Amino acid sequence: MRHRAASSSAPRPWRGRLGPPQNASSPAHLRVEHLEHPLGITERVPRLSWQLPGLAERQAAYRVRTVSGDIHADTGRVASDQHLFVPWTGGAARSGQEVVWQVKVWTEQGESDWSQPASFEWGLLEPADWSARWIEPAEDEVPAPGRRPAYVLRRSFSLDQPVVRARLYATAHGIYEAHLDGVRVGDLELTPGFTSYRHRLQVQTYDVTDLLGPGSHLWDVTLSDGWYRGLTGALQEHNSYGDRVALLAQLVVTHPGGGRTVIPTGPDWLSATGPVVTADLLDGQSTDLRRTPVDWAPVRPGTGEAYDDFDRLTSSPAPPVRRVEELRPVSVTRPSAGRQVIDLGQNINGWVRLATPAPAGTVLTLTHGEALGADGDVSLDHLTAHHFVTGEPFPLRQEDRVTSDGTAPFEPRHTTHGFQYVRVEGHPGTLTPDDVSGVVVHSDLRRTGWWHSDNEDLNRLHLAADWSLRGNVCDIPTDCPTRERAGWTGDWQLYLPTAAFLYDVAGFSVKWLRDLAADQWPDGNVPCIVPRGPSGVMDPLDGSSGWGDAAVIVPWELWRAYGDLAVLRDQYPSMRDWVEYAARCARERCHPDRVVHDPYLWDTGHHFGEWLEPGGTEVIDPALDHGDVATAFLHRSADLVARTARLVDRAGEAARYEEIARGALRAWRSHYIAADGSLTPDTQATYVRALAWGLLPHELRRPAADRLAALVRSAGTHLGTGFLSTPNLLPVLADHGHLDLAYELLLQRTTPSWLGMLDRGATTVWESWEGIGEDGEAQGSLNHYSKGAVISFLHTRTAGISPLEPGYRRFRVAPRPGGGLRSVEGVHQSPYGRIRSAWQLTSDGAFHLEVTIPAGTSAEIDLPDGSRTGAGPGAHEFLVPCP
Ligand code: BGC
Repeated sequence: MRHRAASSSAPRPWRGRLGPPQNASSPAHLRVEHLEHPLGITERVPRLSWQLPGLAERQAAYRVRTVSGDIHADTGRVASDQHLFVPWTGGAARSGQEVVWQVKVWTEQGESDWSQPASFEWGLLEPADWSARWIEPAEDEVPAPGRRPAYVLRRSFSLDQPVVRARLYATAHGIYEAHLDGVRVGDLELTPGFTSYRHRLQVQTYDVTDLLGPGSHLWDVTLSDGWYRGLTGALQEHNSYGDRVALLAQLVVTHPGGGRTVIPTGPDWLSATGPVVTADLLDGQSTDLRRTPVDWAPVRPGTGEAYDDFDRLTSSPAPPVRRVEELRPVSVTRPSAGRQVIDLGQNINGWVRLATPAPAGTVLTLTHGEALGADGDVSLDHLTAHHFVTGEPFPLRQEDRVTSDGTAPFEPRHTTHGFQYVRVEGHPGTLTPDDVSGVVVHSDLRRTGWWHSDNEDLNRLHLAADWSLRGNVCDIPTDCPTRERAGWTGDWQLYLPTAAFLYDVAGFSVKWLRDLAADQWPDGNVPCIVPRGPSGVMDPLDGSSGWGDAAVIVPWELWRAYGDLAVLRDQYPSMRDWVEYAARCARERCHPDRVVHDPYLWDTGHHFGEWLEPGGTEVIDPALDHGDVATAFLHRSADLVARTARLVDRAGEAARYEEIARGALRAWRSHYIAADGSLTPDTQATYVRALAWGLLPHELRRPAADRLAALVRSAGTHLGTGFLSTPNLLPVLADHGHLDLAYELLLQRTTPSWLGMLDRGATTVWESWEGIGEDGEAQGSLNHYSKGAVISFLHTRTAGISPLEPGYRRFRVAPRPGGGLRSVEGVHQSPYGRIRSAWQLTSDGAFHLEVTIPAGTSAEIDLPDGSRTGAGPGAHEFLVPCP
């Protein structure tokens, strides 16, 4: 590679030699909505996206056509520069219709070749498409929690003609797993997933063509409680959505000539209990592999309102949950007689696969945990949740039991656990790492971001943050995969931007936002947990700033990361209603300690506040005044809603939210900025929030940044921020003259610190900085991604990649070297294509940067010597003196 001599003159971009151009001669990475080749979609006008070929700067026109199947469509040449989210115009949606399409484009480089074909298929779009009826297992009375089996439901059928195509459509109240003639259908786990079931229930579509032919067949489905009626959330509620499990499914088989056979669920099905003796997501699964279903009884028809509502059936915009990876244990120990402890070396969400069957009749008990006690045995004590009012404890079990049949390997499918260690009791022999593996289970998100440096500690931190995200994306974003497993709104609000550097979380978040909107209260208040548990136990915690603001901030950040305007359009009413709610709280109520009521100061109601600042104790008390946090969020969200209004053709409403944003800013300034320019409360979090969101008049920014730095110094160069501000701490320092301090904090090893966590053995990010204390005792969840948001600094400041226009159509590459790092590489697969920023310090003290800019985008390159240049698609190289 050619190196330009270091010079102080502005660098001249060099292009064309670094790496091959992507998508050589035709558009690539074809997607439908946010998915590749989706089956069973229910969007009637799906949107198509593709990436431009080669180094094209701009698309002038495109042409989409179908290439096979019954639909013949051709848009002809359409003059447009849009190649993300282009609405399908090839004809009306038809249930079960498959579309195979391809695209070519015209750019300034000429006409491209046709892309490789891609496909999508509509699911069952109309209630009338379902001849299936809901069925419940023959269960006379609802068993007590802890005694609920997974049922096997089945029917046989025969086909008298060859099969050209067969689809299975299925959903459930509970978790289902289908088999045809003993062969498992598909590779999706924990279906139909977790949604606000009363409003939205996901249907999966499977291609089962290869499993069927003329002759007789047996179709069986295992059905367990899942989120629907099993234990959910911190308070381990059961029957959250109903007290009966049920199944709705139908097979649609197409024969040569187009004739069809439909085999639905209905009264002719039978049910029995099978090998799964009990199954619960939180408690665990108990399985007797010697058992086969015997006492078959006719199923019960599902009757009642929920069963009649076919309008709530929908496909998922998110990738499904799968077994994503298997980990080989790093060790097996014997802490005491009869107990062996498996260490995966990594904290994960998932379950264990027993590859080597124990002798028939052996009963193994597997207890899953994140930590070991002083005795070297698995400890779950730190994962006991407590009721937020009564203090009642809710211990976590995570215990699987399996009775071996002596032949079959085994893994449960109707539970998940957050764990690194597994205690195995009852095994007569000595287990080795070959006998067991850890199965990592989560939403099968497409990886889009990588970061690597010459500092192994930071690489490990990045990995731990990545694993924490992976541990908490099991169809919904959760706080932890253990104690609560709940879709806490604040957690996703603060972590989403970081998550979006690592994975394509667009469809995953859209799914969750639809539930948020569905669960939103009529007055605009937002549940603190989505999907909301219908019992209402957690409702008193709803309406907290920083949590409810997820309604606004998540769609806004999705727009920034993916450029999908429809997310803002669809969520706009929900965003607006939340701000109306918050503004009304401020307007109508006043904290009793305040003499004069400021109608824009939001100082009443329950708020979690900054939450979990190091050394603090958290109190949940609606009488506390969190006006500093809440009013700042009111300003932030109102401002984003005003901007959204203009983007989604509601400009007429923008003024109202601008007014609220201005009012909240004025109220915040008059109450929390003292005459000398200091802020109240005088905490790191207050300064971070003020600087990150532009709450300060220009002349106070520098003093505020200096005060923040002084607070960090007076804490012994330790962070003091909690949940809400930690993601912005290092960026704010870096952007306001304290880059070195940002790196010092990042590399700090004494508690509280990120590397301190790793030094004490963390493989995922902890909820508490003292997750494993000096005494080795665990406290709180050890897999809580929120603090891991620090890695966004590695992407946006260290590698220096951040969007300037939605979806990275225009972006900035502004690497900020420091912390003794000598080389860094950041890669982001943006919606337009691959962005790369890789730099190193050369032996002669220069800064050498390589940048890759994908087709259809442009970048602004800010170099550490203060020079700036624009660049278009291609590979570029820069060499400048290092400051
Ligand atoms: C959860 C958090 C959540 C919080 C509310 C905790 O118990 O684990 O992540 O956001 O409660 O403050």
